[in-house]
Amino acid sequence: MERFTHHTVLITGGTTGIGYATARRLLDEGAHVVITGRDEHRLAKASAELAAGERLLAVRADVADLADLDSLASRVGSWRGGLDAVFANAGTGVFKPGAEITEAEFDQSTAVNFKGVFFTVQKALPLLRDGGAIVLNASWTLHRGLPVASVYSATKAAVHNLARTLGSDLAPRRIRVNSVSPGFIDTEMYRGATADAEADARNAAQVPLGTIGRAADVAAAVAFLASADAAYITGQDLVIDGGLTGSFPNP
Ligand SMILES: NC(=O)c1ccc[n+]([C@@H]2O[C@H](COP(=O)([O-])OP(=O)(O)OC[C@H]3O[C@@H](n4cnc5c(N)ncnc54)[C@H](OP(=O)(O)O)[C@@H]3O)[C@@H](O)[C@H]2O)c1
Repeated sequence: MERFTHHTVLITGGTTGIGYATARRLLDEGAHVVITGRDEHRLAKASAELAAGERLLAVRADVADLADLDSLASRVGSWRGGLDAVFANAGTGVFKPGAEITEAEFDQSTAVNFKGVFFTVQKALPLLRDGGAIVLNASWTLHRGLPVASVYSATKAAVHNLARTLGSDLAPRRIRVNSVSPGFIDTEMYRGATADAEADARNAAQVPLGTIGRAADVAAAVAFLASADAAYITGQDLVIDGGLTGSFPNP
């Protein structure tokens, strides 16, 4: 049975990686899906590959730009009239020691990962039906100290905290809010942060299940949290990391 038939879901950052895989998954389960990104060419490529016809809308919008989020909400409202779920997925990462992070990198990280997630939710709320679902993309790094990820991890801790507090805030409307915390997942962001050829083997050695994860692994968890199967779950963080954060580090 298709869990998302007649449902409309907004996914920010749907051109590649986890957002794209989630779009694929929800389309396969019958949803109408809106994907966003900053680049028209990448949006066009993703749309062509997803090949979902009238069940897909691609909108150029930078989540750090409130005017873009306003026009996104307006486009979504005109397209489908409302939303059943939101996946605030768009994110960015600066991976270097704290001593080297510049003010501009700090501002960009917080603008996309924290401010962007907060206002994605706020601007979508008038469209979101009572009883709908919100999933925020956090990260395993909010659970364990990764030396090169101080600012990134702090933004992701904020993201999970938003899930908790907005879960209470929106409970009177029965809107559930949860976060997901992916581990090492093979995407453009992961490839950008893993400079050397041995990184995969080194990272996989830290994962009890022994491999780097796939974007589709996270998409399945997002689909669960966005669906009626998770009807009694709110304010939680679901970690999808092959056991990385729950285990003793390998030497
Ligand atoms: N991969 C991992 O190992 C991992 C682990 C934990 C958490 N995460 C989180 O997963 C999320 C998705 O990342 P990914 O790994 O799937 O990487 P990705 O393939 O690089 O995807 C990032 C997506 O976000 C979009 N994006 C970036 N900045 C944006 C902005 N300001 N406004 C709108 N869209 C924006 C990108 O599209 P454009 O560039 O076209 O705008 C792209 O669609 C991020 O929040 C990341 O922190 C990833």
